[in-house]
Amino acid sequence: MRWLMFPNRFIIFITFTSLSSHFIHGTVEECRSSMYPPEGPTFKGNVSWFTLDLDLPPSDRWSHVIKEKKPELFAMIQAIRDLAGGFFHGKLIGLVDKELPLIVDTLPYPFNEEIKGISAVSGIPLGEVVLFNIFYEVFTVCTSVIAEDLKGNIYHARNLDFGLFMGWDKKNQTWTITEKLKPLVVNVDFHRKNRTVFKSTSFAGYVGMLTGIRPKEFTLTMNERFNLDGGYIGILEWILGQRDGMWMSFLTRSVLENATSYEDAKNQLAQTKLLAPAYFILGGNQTGQGCVITRTRINTLDIWEIALYLGRWYVLETNYDHWEEPFFLDDRRKPAMKCMNQTTQANINLQTIYNVLSTKPVLNKLTAYTSLMEVSSGKLESYLRACPNPCTPW
Ligand SMILES: *[C@@H]1O[C@H](CO)[C@@H](O)[C@H](O)[C@H]1NC(C)=O
Ligand SMILES: *[C@@H]1O[C@H](CO)[C@@H](O)[C@H](O)[C@H]1NC(C)=O
Ligand SMILES: *[C@@H]1O[C@H](CO)[C@@H](O)[C@H](O)[C@H]1NC(C)=O
Ligand SMILES: *[C@@H]1O[C@H](CO)[C@@H](O)[C@H](O)[C@H]1NC(C)=O
Ligand SMILES: *[C@@H]1O[C@H](CO)[C@@H](O)[C@H](O)[C@H]1NC(C)=O
Repeated sequence: MRWLMFPNRFIIFITFTSLSSHFIHGTVEECRSSMYPPEGPTFKGNVSWFTLDLDLPPSDRWSHVIKEKKPELFAMIQAIRDLAGGFFHGKLIGLVDKELPLIVDTLPYPFNEEIKGISAVSGIPLGEVVLFNIFYEVFTVCTSVIAEDLKGNIYHARNLDFGLFMGWDKKNQTWTITEKLKPLVVNVDFHRKNRTVFKSTSFAGYVGMLTGIRPKEFTLTMNERFNLDGGYIGILEWILGQRDGMWMSFLTRSVLENATSYEDAKNQLAQTKLLAPAYFILGGNQTGQGCVITRTRINTLDIWEIALYLGRWYVLETNYDHWEEPFFLDDRRKPAMKCMNQTTQANINLQTIYNVLSTKPVLNKLTAYTSLMEVSSGKLESYLRACPNPCTPW
């Protein structure tokens, strides 16, 4: 289990000191316009749709997705193995294969059964599928925004940035894991009794949710919250046997599956004990319904809501508490807000939000996809992204 105690931030520190001199003078560009419909060098492709039937036994639900994405899933797992090979003289994967299967049965139903099903169908060892699922809980940096237009329509959009410090490909100037992740991005329409319950943009092989919409009711995204008070202690505690918190992306999925309104979702997201800190960005279907919930493991520090009477027609979250300055090497907030302000409430819609999310460094080399959601029409559109040079690595 020792590898899990290896503090993330130490890796981040080392990498910062070795990479920062190359990248500190990153690219901050003028706000983009006319980026929609997506095309050109920052558009890498559409995301394909799958239907997932929640009435099937959990172990069978993902079979059709995994069968289609098997080669891409293998390529990703191999890249993780290669990266892990550098730790503890290559013993890391041995530990993963031996120890992590033991925790699958401690994970809540139906996630445990879905993960076992994915392992069985793909032939990838159970421990490695578990690792793949834990990954996203801890390495996701993002930008999420909810905005209200003058007619009271609520829009919710995000960039999913993933793979920070996980293998830098010098030749292609890309992050190795980010590139391997892009072909795994899928849109999933979760059905019950042959009707949509919610829709999500996710990764094949991953059972939690980071981005989703319940048409006509609410929209939800999750961003990682780095926190000095040991964000990953909860995950370690789980593995060691103290299991009273909820995995963040399992909560997100469970809320998408079961909550029936903005208020219901907000309460569940604010009150459930978690394994690690997080930001939940939640949009509703009525004026004023959009908020950023800043979570510690135990409680909620703040709920920051759209407030038209204060002139606050959008809320925007990257990976820092909104009342504090972002980390100086990673300020995607100011550029994004600058572009939101320039767009103005009168001109906000999914197209103009796509422009904001296409502006560097809001768009950067970690950006795997951009999702656009409109609750009133139930629309979820996602696009794979690329960020050719000159482009900031995060
Ligand atoms: C993506 O989808 C749009 C709309 O369906 C289509 O016009 C476009 O050609 C697709 N692009 C690629 C690269 O597949
Ligand atoms: C680097 O880019 C080239 C050309 O796009 C591609 O063929 C190759 O697979 C990439 N290498 C990696 C490691 O992704
Ligand atoms: C499911 O819904 C689709 C269209 O919404 C319909 O064509 C199909 O017959 C339905 N299937 C069942 C089993 O009810
Ligand atoms: C908004 O959501 C609530 C709760 O889910 C629902 O009762 C209501 O009909 C929705 N309103 C609209 C305009 O869709
Ligand atoms: C955007 O506008 C808001 C509200 O007027 C203001 O508080 C904020 O400082 C502005 N941000 C930027 C980066 O322009």
